[in-house]
Amino acid sequence: MSRIETVGIVGAGQMGSGIAHVAALAGYSVLLYDISPDRIEKGIATINGNMARQVSHGKLSEGERQAALARIAPAPNLQDLAGCDLVIEAATEDESIKRKIFAQLCPVLNPEAILATNTSSISVTRLASATDRAERFIGIHFMNPVPVMKLVELVRGIATENETFETAKEFVTRLGKTTTVSEDFPAFIVNRILLPMINEAIYTLYEGVGTVEAIDTAMKLGANHPMGPLQLADFIGLDTCLSIMQVLHDGLSDSKYRPCPLLVKYVEAGWLGRKSGRGFYDYR
Ligand code: CAA
Repeated sequence: MSRIETVGIVGAGQMGSGIAHVAALAGYSVLLYDISPDRIEKGIATINGNMARQVSHGKLSEGERQAALARIAPAPNLQDLAGCDLVIEAATEDESIKRKIFAQLCPVLNPEAILATNTSSISVTRLASATDRAERFIGIHFMNPVPVMKLVELVRGIATENETFETAKEFVTRLGKTTTVSEDFPAFIVNRILLPMINEAIYTLYEGVGTVEAIDTAMKLGANHPMGPLQLADFIGLDTCLSIMQVLHDGLSDSKYRPCPLLVKYVEAGWLGRKSGRGFYDYR
């Protein structure tokens, strides 16, 4: 058994609840934190529903589901994460929010604990500088939906120690995921490639080349993608898509990463995709 036994997750949204789900199934004790008890409850309800789906599809037994759920406890305060061996931050993709969390969290944690971020684009080295443990800080980037997607990107900051990297790799392997290592460049590997494709699909709509349905059907049937790029953008969250494009644009200073004005407009309208009920598709 690795030295990781108890895992804290900060953020009970779609990524945080997915990480809690797979960690509990792999036998870890999980503490799930968010800024309100309602959000934690909603996260646990999502896990419950997704595990029930796995039971009904024969991927999990009812006993395994119950045992995994029993390993997840709500953590209404950051102080509750004091005994964790590993804490994974899976909050909103906003650097100032992540920095605030680290400022409150670090004094609470055991000095030996590893702190990870699930950031999908922000520099791990820069985030590490907002903690008291750059050597024990690492990027562990999961894909959505976490219980289904097989990949996790590991991203070392400039100061990340080898032991931290090996411990994180062992943890992710025990979750049954495959790891790739990405250097600490904006948006790493997956989102460096995926998000410009999604942004281009939005330009294709913006310029009137095709309708939402035509663009998604073209990429599903013409390129064998499981979801069309606009459906995938709604699934990821349009605010997250915009944040990642902004990180690419700012970090690489190349106009090819300019966020499509239609994406900006949708986010300004509060049309954030599936989670807000409206994006390129209507979910209401
Ligand atoms: N939890 C547990 N199981 C789930 C699940 C969830 N949240 N969502 C789907 N599943 C399971 C289903 O139960 C089903 O299981 P079986 O194989 O046992 O039947 C299986 O996954 C397939 O699901 P569905 O039949 O409902 O639907 P589908 O075949 O259309 O697949 C999908 C859904 C897996 C989401 C698929 O459409 C897909 O792979 N889409 C692309 C997802 C993708 O690209 N993700 C990466 C996003 S980028 C990212 O995450 C990085 C970032 O930082 C932004």
